[in-house]
Amino acid sequence: MNSDPSLTNPPRRGTFITLEGGEGAGKSTQVRYLVARLQARGIEAISTREPGGSPGAEILRDLLLSGMIKALGAKAEAILFAAARIDHIDHTIAPALAAGKWVVCDRFADSTRAYQGTLGGLDPGFLRALERVTVGDTRPDLTLILDLPPEIGLERAAERRGAGAPTDRFEGEDLAFHAALRKAYLAIAAAEPERCVVVDAAHSEAEVAQAIWDAISHRLLDADASAQGEALHGA
Ligand code: TYD
Repeated sequence: MNSDPSLTNPPRRGTFITLEGGEGAGKSTQVRYLVARLQARGIEAISTREPGGSPGAEILRDLLLSGMIKALGAKAEAILFAAARIDHIDHTIAPALAAGKWVVCDRFADSTRAYQGTLGGLDPGFLRALERVTVGDTRPDLTLILDLPPEIGLERAAERRGAGAPTDRFEGEDLAFHAALRKAYLAIAAAEPERCVVVDAAHSEAEVAQAIWDAISHRLLDADASAQGEALHGA
């Protein structure tokens, strides 16, 4: 296993997109729509998710979502999410990007920044160092932040789960937690506008899918097309 992916990952030719946001924002549905739409355009694309996305990381997922790790505190939790991320990058994301594929990932390092960092009260310097040694240069080209008032998100998450079913470790937190989570994501988007696009997730699935596609067309596909055009003109 790589100890520092920035030094050892193969050269990257594909495009890396992440979807982020609070509970019930519809990320997994939108990941499916987006991959299907990319594939329909003849682009090779895979979907994946965190925590998980590779056999080793899926083992850690069960542990992380069980609630058992919460007792260890936000720092240990952040390190375990990061450990799962190393396996995910090494075995799924980096090989796909090296093969020229698009990778669409449901949650990534911004989740650690928002949940363990901002909400867990971790030192930003610690998080930056952790991200440097785990993510390295496998940073997303584009991050879509699905933004939703927390009341609607929690309602949707409860509907999805079905009445009476147990909540996972994070869905069980209260409304104030989810409002702070939303703020944390909006702060990430404001700090990195060149990477992040905020999408209003309160609209219908089809409208959200279109907003995501517009952002991708504008930021990545049109940019690609004009770069190719410039290359042709230059030739
Ligand atoms: P999941 O069941 O995948 O839910 P969701 O549909 O909300 O993505 O649960 C993932 C949970 O793990 C979610 O509550 C956010 C949390 N999480 C972190 O706290 N830190 C992380 O780095 C990641 C990737 C996820």
